[in-house]
Amino acid sequence: MLSYRHSFHAGNHADVVKHIVETLILQTLKQKEKPFVYHDTHSGVGRYDLQDERAEKTGEYKEGIARIFEQENLPEGMQDYLDAIKALNEGDLRYYPGSPRVARAQIREQDRMVLTELHPADFPLLLQEFRGDRQVKMYKEDGFARLKGSLPPKERRGLVLIDPPYELKHEYQDVVNAIADAHKRWATGIYAIWYPVVYRDNVDLILDGLEDAGIRRILQIELGVSPDTTERGMTASGMIVINPPWKLEQQMADILPWLQQHIAPTHGHTTLRWVVPE
Ligand SMILES: C[S@@+](CC[C@H](N)C(=O)[O-])C[C@H]1O[C@@H](n2cnc3c(N)ncnc32)[C@H](O)[C@@H]1O
Repeated sequence: MLSYRHSFHAGNHADVVKHIVETLILQTLKQKEKPFVYHDTHSGVGRYDLQDERAEKTGEYKEGIARIFEQENLPEGMQDYLDAIKALNEGDLRYYPGSPRVARAQIREQDRMVLTELHPADFPLLLQEFRGDRQVKMYKEDGFARLKGSLPPKERRGLVLIDPPYELKHEYQDVVNAIADAHKRWATGIYAIWYPVVYRDNVDLILDGLEDAGIRRILQIELGVSPDTTERGMTASGMIVINPPWKLEQQMADILPWLQQHIAPTHGHTTLRWVVPE
């Protein structure tokens, strides 16, 4: 039973961090002419209307993208992310790109995208978003099953974005199992795993699981909007990046404090650390 709908959360602080990291990784992949693949295991619909009743109901985007959309003097590397949003909007902020649309703004003619989405209402919207686009293949399949069957990609270069809803506790362990398997098939791929901090133990479960699987070069990037708590609710979120491009750490060292200052100036916190180095 799939109950999660990303339209309630589109453009929130977690999307901002996730999509900036995604953009930075793709920018680096573009520095070589050779083609690459962008593989998104949990795609969502690709574009969100922030005036729709779900987005309005939570208003989460108001404490995320709306806080930085108009900002100038951006840290280096952030402009491409904001340009991808501006490309969907004439002037004021109304539409927010999901991870596939963020990627589509970056890929070149020689690159391709693989998207999976299981939700019966969201998959048709994703199809509609990229209908006729020959560089984008979409599947209404389990994201981890399709990933398993796709690795290694023929290009041997690329980014796998893993962004499950984490509605059920076992999804944290599912991520570890999927990455451990994927890494055996394709050890040099870049993997970016999004995580929410609702209960810190669940984040540790992923980090410990990846380390126990013998995976190295794991960078953790996190933006918190309030301190950890045992109450319900997401207080922070982050990205675990395996095989990050070398520039990413420095770029996020500049960007994270700026995001904290604009999004969570009072109770925010940031983390940028190697969970496992080289
Ligand atoms: C957090 S949202 C994705 C948001 C999207 N990556 C973005 O950044 O715009 C998670 C998505 O995964 C979908 N989903 C849930 N279980 C799935 C599965 N087993 N395989 C593929 N997609 C799944 C949900 O329907 C939901 O749209």
